[in-house]
Amino acid sequence: MYNRLKNSSIFASAGILALQMILVSGLDAEGDANQGKRVFQRCKACHALRPGQHRVGPSLHGVFGREAGSADGFDGYSRGMRDLNITWTEGNLLEFIQAPALMVQRTRCKAGMVNNEQDRINLVEYLKQASD
Ligand code: HEC
Repeated sequence: MYNRLKNSSIFASAGILALQMILVSGLDAEGDANQGKRVFQRCKACHALRPGQHRVGPSLHGVFGREAGSADGFDGYSRGMRDLNITWTEGNLLEFIQAPALMVQRTRCKAGMVNNEQDRINLVEYLKQASD
C-alpha cells in the first residue's frame, strides 16, 4: 500500500512537470487528432479500437476511464499491468506512452517509441475521440 501511494505521488508530480514543460515549450497542449491518427499507425499492429477486438495488445476501445489491465476477454496482460491499479486518464496515458517501463515493470506494451512530445499529445487527442 505504501509503495502504491508513493508511486502515485511520483506520477502526479511527473504529470505536473510534464504540464509545466508543455507550457514553457510552446507545445500545443490541445493536440491535433488528425495528426494523432497518423501516430496511431505505430500502435495499430497490436491495438485495434473496435470493442473486443484484441490483437497482441488489448482493444483500446473505451480505454479512458477503464481500469488498467481490465479489458474484457484479453488475457495477455503482464502482472505489472494487472497490479497497476489506476484508471486511465489523458494524463497517465501520456506518461505511459512516454516511458511504459517506468510505470509498468516488464510491460509487454511497445508504446514507448513515440519520441516526439507533440506527437504523443496528438496521439492522446486522437485516442480520446476514436476510443469512444
Ligand atoms: C508490439 C505490440 C504493441 C505495440 C506496438 C503497442 N502496444 Fe500497447 N499494449 C501491448 C500489450 C501486449 C499490452 C498489455 C501490456 C501489459 O500487460 O503489460 C498493451 C497495453 C497497452 C495499454 C493498456 C491497456 C489496458 O487495457 O490497460 C495502453 C493504453 C496501450 N497499450 C497503448 C498503446 C499505444 C498508444 C501504442 C502506440 C504508441 C501502443 N500501445 C503500442 C502491445 C503493444
